[in-house]
Amino acid sequence: QDSDVLVIGSNMIDLITYVDRMPVEGETIEAPDFAMGFGGKGANQAVAAARLGSRVSFISMVGHDNFGQQQLANFKANHIDVTGVGVGQKNSGAAPIFVDPSSDNRILIIKGANSELTPAVLDQHVDLLQHTKLIVLQQEIPLATNYHAIDLANQYHVPVLLNPAPANRDLDLAHVSRVDFFSPNETELATLTGMPTTTLTEIKAAAHHLIDLGVKNLLVTLGAKGVLWVCANDCQLIDAVKVQAVDTTGAGDSFIGSFAHYFAQGEDVPTALHHANAYAALTVTRRGTQKSYPTAEEVAQAYQPS
Ligand code: RIB
Ligand code: NA
Repeated sequence: QDSDVLVIGSNMIDLITYVDRMPVEGETIEAPDFAMGFGGKGANQAVAAARLGSRVSFISMVGHDNFGQQQLANFKANHIDVTGVGVGQKNSGAAPIFVDPSSDNRILIIKGANSELTPAVLDQHVDLLQHTKLIVLQQEIPLATNYHAIDLANQYHVPVLLNPAPANRDLDLAHVSRVDFFSPNETELATLTGMPTTTLTEIKAAAHHLIDLGVKNLLVTLGAKGVLWVCANDCQLIDAVKVQAVDTTGAGDSFIGSFAHYFAQGEDVPTALHHANAYAALTVTRRGTQKSYPTAEEVAQAYQPS
């Protein structure tokens, strides 16, 4: 069965501690709250697209532990096709996260079974890569697997989006140059190009450097400033929707996953970006990662003209 969006990537168990401040070395302090939830950049993006109504397939590796079974159940509960989800030898990936009173977060990731998502796993699921409208990648699985996914996507003429998060200095520009959508933030863009990205003019120059290398579209995420779309003959800044943030964890993933959905539905790039900004804005007003991702109905409700 064809999918709208195929996500190839990670899943993690999020262990979110809400802190007043971080302890210093040797210190024990009390934190006001803790919550566990389903996360991982790949799974988050898949869930966002699925909640909006896309038919989503996921290629991922869960751990051999109980968490792995819970992850599988969660994907199914979100109507995600799990034929591409395998059970690894290692424990499930986990992510201790600390959210401070200003809603900013610090995240550690322990990859676990996500490191077992090798290029060979993709070869077992080429049918999934062939029959989709968009392939979506992040960087919590081996880089070699993403490179192989880009090769296959190009071979099958399926558009591919690479979200280079978390940043990885080893990411090879030769592979990046063959993606249809590349979505870094300013910092990731600077790291990758070696160019400054402090001002909008500098960001545009760095983006055009990648366009010249062959990337079709740059989606540079600028946080509260929105997203800059750059392609060979157009460039637009699409403003973020202003909201009162309580927890920004997973907001970037909700942006990518919802963009994938709207793009797969046939929206043009600026329209899809505008809608993805609106989707991500809703998620930061609620606590948690996937837990905070609204459905299509909730989005319609939230943006109803009053
Ligand atoms: O982008 C947010 C995600 O990063 C969290 O869900 C955590 O699991 C890490 O992958
Ligand atoms: Na949130």
